[in-house]
Amino acid sequence: MKVTFSVNGTNRTVDVPADMPLLWILRDTLDLKGTKYGCGESLCGACTVHINGAATRACQVPASALNGRKVVTIEGLSADASHPLQRAWQELDVPQCGYCQAGQIMQAAELLANNPKPTDEDIDAAMYGNLCRCATYHRIREGIHRAAQIAANPRAASRTRDDDAAAQGAS
Ligand code: FES
Ligand code: FES
Repeated sequence: MKVTFSVNGTNRTVDVPADMPLLWILRDTLDLKGTKYGCGESLCGACTVHINGAATRACQVPASALNGRKVVTIEGLSADASHPLQRAWQELDVPQCGYCQAGQIMQAAELLANNPKPTDEDIDAAMYGNLCRCATYHRIREGIHRAAQIAANPRAASRTRDDDAAAQGAS
């Protein structure tokens, strides 16, 4: 079947089986490989994208449900990796292997869009469905707090772990 939907701000028409999951349309038909396959069963969050602004598991959405929808993937979160989450992730070296991180960021982006200053509890509640085999959960939480700071003050100077170590050494 032919379906037309917006992907990262551009209307795309694809001719695919009605039951093909959005995840495979993105990766195999549209060559957007940032969204990852983890489980295919809505259990890991690696495939998280936004559909009409809501964090959604792309492995669970068939082509037949896409007409007229607005999909945003990690490639479309910002034009130049300047989204506060992307800045914070770089500052704090959040990823380890990186496999889960696109999904983590897209889930966190929905959280910050709805709750600009989340508590630890808010973060844990929003992120519990996004698994990380490398157990970067502490850094993900730290990264979300840092992204909230950057969003509140976009001109804030970047800092790094080396900066923090130097500051601690100087005190
Ligand atoms: S691949 Fe979709 S939730 Fe795991
Ligand atoms: S960084 Fe390796 S799975 Fe999360």
